[in-house]
Amino acid sequence: MPGGRCSLCDASRQMVDPIASAHALEFNGRTLRLHTLDESALSQLMVLERDAHSHPWSETNMSRSLQRQRVFGLLEGQEIRAFAVFSLVLDEAELLDFVVDPAQQGLGLGGAFLGLCLKQISPPACRVFLEVRQSNEPAIALYLGAGFAEVGIRQNYYPAPNGGREDAILMAMELVD
Ligand SMILES: CC(C)(COP(=O)(O)OP(=O)(O)OC[C@H]1O[C@@H](n2cnc3c(N)ncnc32)[C@H](O)[C@@H]1OP(=O)(O)O)[C@@H](O)C(=O)NCCC(=O)NCCS
Repeated sequence: MPGGRCSLCDASRQMVDPIASAHALEFNGRTLRLHTLDESALSQLMVLERDAHSHPWSETNMSRSLQRQRVFGLLEGQEIRAFAVFSLVLDEAELLDFVVDPAQQGLGLGGAFLGLCLKQISPPACRVFLEVRQSNEPAIALYLGAGFAEVGIRQNYYPAPNGGREDAILMAMELVD
């Protein structure tokens, strides 16, 4: 993996999630695997983060998330094709970041990966929340397709180009076994 390794790529490391490693995704003749990521993935995540977002997280933010949150990666061989950051408190989860490599977008990978991630966090999570930019049509389509519903608006929540602000749509989903 250029610029970083996931925990499962290094057999000597102990931060291996045996449940996550079991999840393989057969996708249009390709095999991708869900892994739990640790800090060794930081540089590769930052490349994807900066390529995918108009207002990317800082490296400090990403590093802290890799230490404290559940971060899943969808790997094809050694390459991370997508990643997701969840915070988990008791039975509530929040999806804090979700990125598909821009070169891989629009193929259905995001929907398939999100489904795998939701299976990973439930249990213990019974519900998931997220915030998304009102203008982010692909993400809103992805979340509605996965079963999320709009539950509110946070006005002027996000910074927007030209110094403006943009509303966030709050979405939630109950997870059932
Ligand atoms: C949002 C994102 C994760 C979607 O990933 P993806 O792999 O391209 O999504 P999929 O191919 O699985 O498509 C998911 C849905 O979005 C729709 N979609 C994809 N690209 C779209 C576009 N440009 N405009 C409108 N809808 C679009 C698809 O049709 C699909 O809807 P459907 O299930 O009703 O057919 C990806 O675009 C991304 O990483 N964006 C940048 C980071 C980001 O905005 N993350 C979300 C933060 S809240």
